[in-house]
Amino acid sequence: MTRSTHAADMSLVAPRPGDERWMARAIELARRGEGRTRPNPPVGAVLVRNVRCIAEGWHRRAGGPHAEEIALRRAGAAARGATLYVTLEPCCTHGRRPPCTDAILAAGVARVVVAVRDPNPRHRGRGLRRLAAAGVEVVEGVGKAEAAALIEPFACWIRRGRPFVTLKLAATLDGRIADAAGASRWITGAAARREVQRLRRRADAVMVGRGTAAHDDPSLRPRPEGGRRPWRIVVASGGDVPLSARMLNDEAVARTMIAVSDRCSAERESVLRNKGAEVLRLPEADEGGVDLAALLEALGRRDLLHVICEGGGALAASLFRAGLVDAVEYFLAPRLLGATARPAVGGGWSLTAMPELTWVDIRRLGRDAWLRLRPLRRRAQVRRSGRASEPRNSPVGNARFSNTGVERARKNGTEPVGKNPTGARRTAR
Ligand SMILES: NC(=O)c1ccc[n+]([C@@H]2O[C@H](COP(=O)([O-])OP(=O)(O)OC[C@H]3O[C@@H](n4cnc5c(N)ncnc54)[C@H](OP(=O)(O)O)[C@@H]3O)[C@@H](O)[C@H]2O)c1
Repeated sequence: MTRSTHAADMSLVAPRPGDERWMARAIELARRGEGRTRPNPPVGAVLVRNVRCIAEGWHRRAGGPHAEEIALRRAGAAARGATLYVTLEPCCTHGRRPPCTDAILAAGVARVVVAVRDPNPRHRGRGLRRLAAAGVEVVEGVGKAEAAALIEPFACWIRRGRPFVTLKLAATLDGRIADAAGASRWITGAAARREVQRLRRRADAVMVGRGTAAHDDPSLRPRPEGGRRPWRIVVASGGDVPLSARMLNDEAVARTMIAVSDRCSAERESVLRNKGAEVLRLPEADEGGVDLAALLEALGRRDLLHVICEGGGALAASLFRAGLVDAVEYFLAPRLLGATARPAVGGGWSLTAMPELTWVDIRRLGRDAWLRLRPLRRRAQVRRSGRASEPRNSPVGNARFSNTGVERARKNGTEPVGKNPTGARRTAR
C-alpha cells in the first residue's frame, strides 16, 4: 500500500504513473551494493524530471556517500522540482555523512518516493516527516516488497542484534548431502553451484561445521575470485580443524574464523592463531557444541549482517533447534543416495515439534530444482502443537538477543545514527 505524506496528512494515495518503473530502476541500482555496504544497507536512488532520468546513485560502502547524495550531486541545479526515487527512507541525522533530508531540501526536490522506511525504530519515519513538514510531497510503499527483501539482513541486525542466517542445502531427492563415506562432490549440477557462488557473494560470512571442514576441505571463497571476500567460519568446539585445511593455509587465512567453546585448549587456540586464523571463544551450548546464538551475537557485534551456512547436517539441525534459521535455499538434485548416506539435517523431531517451512519460490535450475523457503514462526508451530515454549520473536523467546545494536548503542552512550545505528565502534554511514 502506498502512502502520501504531507506535513500532518497521512492519507493513502495511489502512486503516479511511472513510479513503479523508476523505483524498479532504483532497486536495480541498490542491488549493486549488496554484500558490500555492511553495516549499512544497500540503497539506490534515481532523480527524475519531466519523465526523464537526470541522475542516479547507489551506496557503495559504509562511510561513502549515500545514494541520494550521489544522485543529487550529479544532478546539480537540475534537481530543483524533480522527483527523487529512493529505496530506503532518507536519513535525517548527522553521522559519517550529513543528513540526506537536508541535501534533498537544499536541492529543491519537489517529490520523494520511498520504497521502505528505516527499520531502525528510533529513526523510522523521521526522515519522511522532516521532508513532509518542509512541504515536499512524500509517497511511500512503491516497490516495498522487493526493497524490504533487499534490506532484510540489515533489518535483522538492527532488530535482533545478530546477522540474518541463510541455510543453504544441496541434497538428493531423499534429503542426503553426502554418501555414507562422506563424499558430496558433486550432488547438484553446475547451474545450482553457480547460484551458490552468487549467494556467497551477497553474504558477509560463509559458515560450516567441523565435520564439513574435515570431510570436504572447502575454501568457501566465492568463485570466480575477485572483489570482496566474505569471512569463513568453522564451528568446532575443540578447534579440531585439520591444520592442513585450505582455509588455514591460503592467502585469505586472516578471513578465517574458528568458533570454539571452552573445550578448546589454550595450546590449540594458539596453534590456530599462529596459522593466521581468528579464534572466537564462545560458551558451550546446553545441548553440547558451540552456543550458536552467542556466536551470531558476537558476529553481529562485528557488524556482520548476513551469514550463509553451508552445512553440514549437524550444524543445520542445531540452527533449526535454536530457531536461528531465517531463510533456506534448497538445491534439490533428482538423485538418490539411500538411508546409509548423510542427512541434510541431522537429529530428529516429533511430528508435533518439527520445524515447518513455507514456500517462497520453486524453480528449475539446470537439471536440479531450487527451492526457496522461510521457516514459519514458532508461534504458529506452538499453537498447532499445543506446546508452551516461547515463540522466537517474543520478548522472552528473543531474550538472548535482547542486547540489540540499538540497545548496545544506548548503553555505550552513542546515539544510533541514520541507517547505521549501532555500537560505539560504529558511527554512521
Ligand atoms: N551436499 C552439500 O552441499 C554438503 C554441504 C556441507 C556438508 N556436506 C557433507 O556433510 C558432511 C558433514 O556433515 P556433519 O553433519 O557430519 O558435520 P557438520 O554439521 O559439518 O559439523 C558438525 C560438527 O560441528 C561441530 N559443532 C560445534 N558446535 C556445534 C553445534 N552447536 N551444532 C552442531 N555442530 C556443532 C561439532 O564438532 P565438535 O564436537 O568438534 O565441536 C559437530 O560434530 C560431510 O560429509 C560433507 O561432505 C554436504
